[in-house]
Amino acid sequence: MSSRPIYLDNHATTPVDERVLTAMLPYFTEHFGNPASVSHLYGWEAQAAVKKSREILAAAINATPEEIIFTSGATEANNLAIKGVAEAYFQKGQHIITVATEHNAVLDPCNYLQSLGFEITILPVQKDGLINTSDLEKALRPDTILVSVMAANNEIGVLQPLAEIGSICRERGVIFHSDAAQAIGKIPLDVQAMKIDLLSLTAHKIYGPKGIGALYVRRRNPRVQIAPQLHGGGHEGGMRSGTLYTPQIVGFAKAVEIALQQQTTENQRLAQLRSRLWEVLSSLEGIYLNGHPNQRLAGNLNISVEGVDGAALLLALQPVVAVSSGAACSSATATPSHVLKALGHPEKLAYASVRFGIGRFNTAQEIDIVAKHVVSTIQSLRKQAITI
Ligand SMILES: Cc1ncc(COP(=O)(O)O)c(C=O)c1O
Repeated sequence: MSSRPIYLDNHATTPVDERVLTAMLPYFTEHFGNPASVSHLYGWEAQAAVKKSREILAAAINATPEEIIFTSGATEANNLAIKGVAEAYFQKGQHIITVATEHNAVLDPCNYLQSLGFEITILPVQKDGLINTSDLEKALRPDTILVSVMAANNEIGVLQPLAEIGSICRERGVIFHSDAAQAIGKIPLDVQAMKIDLLSLTAHKIYGPKGIGALYVRRRNPRVQIAPQLHGGGHEGGMRSGTLYTPQIVGFAKAVEIALQQQTTENQRLAQLRSRLWEVLSSLEGIYLNGHPNQRLAGNLNISVEGVDGAALLLALQPVVAVSSGAACSSATATPSHVLKALGHPEKLAYASVRFGIGRFNTAQEIDIVAKHVVSTIQSLRKQAITI
């Protein structure tokens, strides 16, 4: 058995699938051309690879290839969507609606816009992490230009009702953006059926490379305008300048292709592994499941543990299992997760939380080892707390 901890932090990032790497490799060396070079074979080869990848990504969400803008990841896609809409539509209105449990890559651009004078409404979530769509209906105003609600939460895996939100926004003539960084490849996404106008994607949560993502921007019914945030050579229809990163783009498309091929069977397998883990953990007293029990990503289990210190728990778990207490970017800080706080947990419970992200390469044997270790760790920490 490997001496490295078992990796159950697949919401933070995932290893690159060998098949993805194989698809990418020729584009670093042999087919290294710039896709914008129009006068020779090297450029044409790269351009053909980008074109094919764009088609695969567009088909994955029921969009057209020209509606896909490549970015460096979901952070950039979210920034481009939110700031891009704010800048393009500020004369129409300056009100934006988002949700308390969004990733900081959505909340921070909104905070930034607030500092410029935009008004931001942050919708609360219910105890299960889902928004109440009547709250959204009530929050919409004549000057609302954008609603941003994530598809799948990165901490508690909760899946927001996108189709319902999309219908509400379309009826009121408001642009609907969704951050699908954790959802692409894992749940069906259809920008037509769900009436999504802007959709942020990333590759590294689905066994693709880091540093590549995309923003879907609706071109028709209705046409959505965004102001570019990176100016330069006019790539991506002028909406995102910068030489296209061909190997990453090819890897992104391959990762999506594989994820879609095995989506149904993989979700069943992950849900079984999650139940296996939860069955053992929930046999302990004082363990609470965070987020909706079913309307969540198949591989996500997020628990709060009563009577133990969160930092001590993670420290004791880490030699055996790599997990985190929340979003990877904030798990090093001592502040409780804004997502768990939004569920209405008392701060103490929010501290002792563990996010398990089960992924493609995890096995039932690994889950059994982790379950046993988590249980014994919690028991011994609780015993120590009593004797201190
Ligand atoms: C929901 C969500 N949005 C945005 C991001 C940022 O994505 P990226 O790392 O591609 O910039 C992440 C990943 O951490 C995420 O989970």
